[in-house]
Amino acid sequence: MARPNTLRVSGFREYVHRVKKDTPLIKVSGLPTLAQVSHPERQSVVIFDRILLKNAAFKKWVAQFDLALPVQAGESLKTVQQYAKVLNQLQAWQNKKLITKKLQFVAIGGGSVGDFTGFLASTYQRGCPLVQIPSTWLSAVDSAHGGKNGLNLNNVKNQIGTIYPASKVILSKALLLNQPAERLTEAFGEIIKICLINQPKLYTQIKFTEDFVWKNLEKFIQAKMVVVKKDPFEKTGYRHILNLGHTMGHVYESELGLSHGKAVLMGMVFAARWSFHLGQLKQKDFVNLTQLITDMPNSELAFAKAHKLSKQKITAALNQDKKSVAAKEKSLRFILIKKPGQVFVAQKTVSEIVTEFERQRFHA
Ligand SMILES: NC(=O)c1ccc[n+]([C@@H]2O[C@H](COP(=O)([O-])OP(=O)(O)OC[C@H]3O[C@@H](n4cnc5c(N)ncnc54)[C@H](O)[C@@H]3O)[C@@H](O)[C@H]2O)c1
Repeated sequence: MARPNTLRVSGFREYVHRVKKDTPLIKVSGLPTLAQVSHPERQSVVIFDRILLKNAAFKKWVAQFDLALPVQAGESLKTVQQYAKVLNQLQAWQNKKLITKKLQFVAIGGGSVGDFTGFLASTYQRGCPLVQIPSTWLSAVDSAHGGKNGLNLNNVKNQIGTIYPASKVILSKALLLNQPAERLTEAFGEIIKICLINQPKLYTQIKFTEDFVWKNLEKFIQAKMVVVKKDPFEKTGYRHILNLGHTMGHVYESELGLSHGKAVLMGMVFAARWSFHLGQLKQKDFVNLTQLITDMPNSELAFAKAHKLSKQKITAALNQDKKSVAAKEKSLRFILIKKPGQVFVAQKTVSEIVTEFERQRFHA
């Protein structure tokens, strides 16, 4: 019999559909207890970012788990090759009889580890519960929530993936405060994005401090979940607004090798410039937004480098975008900004986006 809040979807045995019921958020100041992480009936496989081993307290903590696998974070983790490697590791543990129960997966790391482990959890034995313990601000604010995961295919972002919400997300202050300043800058792409979408008041209060992010974490998460709940499986198209800054962001990320967070910041500036040019965004809001992004401490926005990208490269990268809609000429769902608290989806052809890129190259 199906458990309450459990929906059987396409053969997934454990597809927990937490749309009506929020995924529990556990906020802890130190590292979570074993009881907070563990599943009553399952053995935990912990997939964690190896960088965290530099933290002595974490190193001691993770040693409690029999099945723990350090991984190298980043886009190179989100590949079919790494997926196969971890499946082989699971098989090896099976053969050594180290796996004694059904599994749950625990992802500890940034968005790359979360996306990778989420996909693994959703596909291994047709679905196992997933616990997300984000270790970057970006993942704490955004990627650990809403259920999307993904692997890249030949350098093209998130071509393979499922929508598979975590059964719980644990926010550890000790882990999050351990990050370098750069990680904070990267999270602001997603923070500014979600505030522009539906938190206009919070948008006016943004401060580039860890304290601000930690204090407002639940607000950012709830703001994202308001959108996700209206279109959990991206069926109506409403959820696409969460891609604000991401169409060009993904181009900058793959073509310039920028971090996801910085690329999204740049993508948002691109969207703001276009929205202003189209007469959608008022000058005052446009100036505020672009200043907010370009004034940010530690932000090294690589606009000069971006403007050197060729039309051909941009076109090729946009043609790989999976936010496309079927049409004679490739058309994408591009998110434009009306004002803080109001964004909208516009269908734009690849050539329109490239033309706008050219316009900004010479006029921005
Ligand atoms: N699923 C979603 O909804 C969603 C949303 C946004 C982004 N994403 C994905 O998330 C990824 C970007 O996330 P990210 O920036 O967290 O990436 P990441 O996992 O690559 O982490 C960035 C860097 O931070 C390091 N790091 C992680 N935790 C640390 C800590 N506590 N201290 C010091 N260094 C630490 C990592 O080793 C890595 O070098 C991209 O792959 C993007 O596509 C997914």
